[in-house]
Amino acid sequence: MELLLLADPSEEKIRSYLSGSKCFVASSGAVVVGACVVQPRGEGTHELMSIAVHPVCQKSGYGTALLKWVIDFFRNSGARQLEVGTGTFGYQLAFYQRHGFRVASIDRGFFVKNYPEPIFQDGIQLFDMLRLTLRYSGNGA
Ligand SMILES: CC(C)(COP(=O)(O)OP(=O)(O)OC[C@H]1O[C@@H](n2cnc3c(N)ncnc32)[C@H](O)[C@@H]1OP(=O)(O)O)[C@@H](O)C(=O)NCCC(=O)NCCS
Repeated sequence: MELLLLADPSEEKIRSYLSGSKCFVASSGAVVVGACVVQPRGEGTHELMSIAVHPVCQKSGYGTALLKWVIDFFRNSGARQLEVGTGTFGYQLAFYQRHGFRVASIDRGFFVKNYPEPIFQDGIQLFDMLRLTLRYSGNGA
């Protein structure tokens, strides 16, 4: 939970999607340093609900290794696509797109409609959510 709160400030929301989801962790020795929660959405679609790495371990490659592992896991299980929702700015956008996620749509006002307190990143308030999709098959068009 401590890790997942880094990616989503609402413990209530995290608890609501934990059941029915798969949780993957990255560890360094016996210590868990990262976590990723993925929920099935039906018809071969899975949604990455959260991914986080402990602050002291960030920028060391754990997040990339964990995301790659999760992408490969669902590819090998025969999934059609992975989805994720993220803010409209920040390094997370590059993080996902580097691994093949593409912008699918925008959920305007998501972060103000779904959270009681304003959320800031790099001093900028988050308003809208970008929906990104990674399709396992397809030519990128
Ligand atoms: C997103 C996250 C899981 C990435 O994990 P990580 O272990 O830091 O990732 P990596 O070390 O593999 O780095 C991936 C890229 O992100 C960049 N990055 C990671 N943390 C960063 C930060 N705080 N600020 C700027 N860039 C950052 C890295 O520099 C790297 O980019 P590069 O290859 O161009 O150098 C992690 O930063 C995190 O837990 N963030 C807080 C929670 C969050 O925002 N989750 C995503 C919700 S949409």
